[in-house]
Amino acid sequence: MSDAPEGIVEYAYDNITQWYLQWVEGQKSPRDRYAKRLLDEMPPSPSILELGCGPGVPVLQLLLHKGARVVANDISTKQIEMAKARFPAAELIAGDMTALSFEPESFDGAISLYTLFHLPRAKLKDMLVKIHSWLKPNGVFVFNLATVDEEEIHGEFFGYGMFWSSFDVDANQALLREIGFDLLQVDIFEAGDGKLEEDDPDFGAEFMWVVARKKDSSHDERNADKA
Ligand SMILES: C[S@@+](CC[C@H](N)C(=O)[O-])C[C@H]1O[C@@H](n2cnc3c(N)ncnc32)[C@H](O)[C@@H]1O
Repeated sequence: MSDAPEGIVEYAYDNITQWYLQWVEGQKSPRDRYAKRLLDEMPPSPSILELGCGPGVPVLQLLLHKGARVVANDISTKQIEMAKARFPAAELIAGDMTALSFEPESFDGAISLYTLFHLPRAKLKDMLVKIHSWLKPNGVFVFNLATVDEEEIHGEFFGYGMFWSSFDVDANQALLREIGFDLLQVDIFEAGDGKLEEDDPDFGAEFMWVVARKKDSSHDERNADKA
């Protein structure tokens, strides 16, 4: 295992597949609600990119069920194998999301839940810029981030070493606006509405849920031509 943050994260998720799946399946979270919110913004049969799909439950499952064409990525080969076994209709790509490349304007929508906080925060802007470029004009990105101002958090997740990194809420919002997203919705929730037991991996965590739309710059250009 590499000591780099990506190596720590990949190793953990490769080794906790069954525990993670059981936990997600037994957990109440806003995942479904936000995946449906993305679909509400989409044209029929949308193309959607999911980053950090894990075992594909419940988000990939829901998107496919609603008729989306989905490209899903995860750094953990084991998580991708689990998703592939359940959802062969998706195009599944194993690897670090920061190494992905797609044609500009490839997707109507993108979603990434409980994942972007595993990137070292120095890499977050470049990743968001890429996601923005892969979206069609007016494309929508739904995701969550952590809310603490911490460059490196090392801890344990289901008994394995884990890495997290995060900006605070204001810095996250400023970054998204600078890149060219309109923020349609920003909600801040404590995990499990603050009712989790102390032994839950998400105990005490707070997440910022975002629905963001890529600004249609061609519209701005057309208006500039008229001026
Ligand atoms: C907490 S899980 C979330 C899984 C799923 N999105 C969900 O909501 O349950 C984080 C997932 O992100 C993946 N991940 C972490 N860093 C990644 C990276 N740099 N590139 C791609 N996937 C990554 C992990 O392997 C893991 O499956």
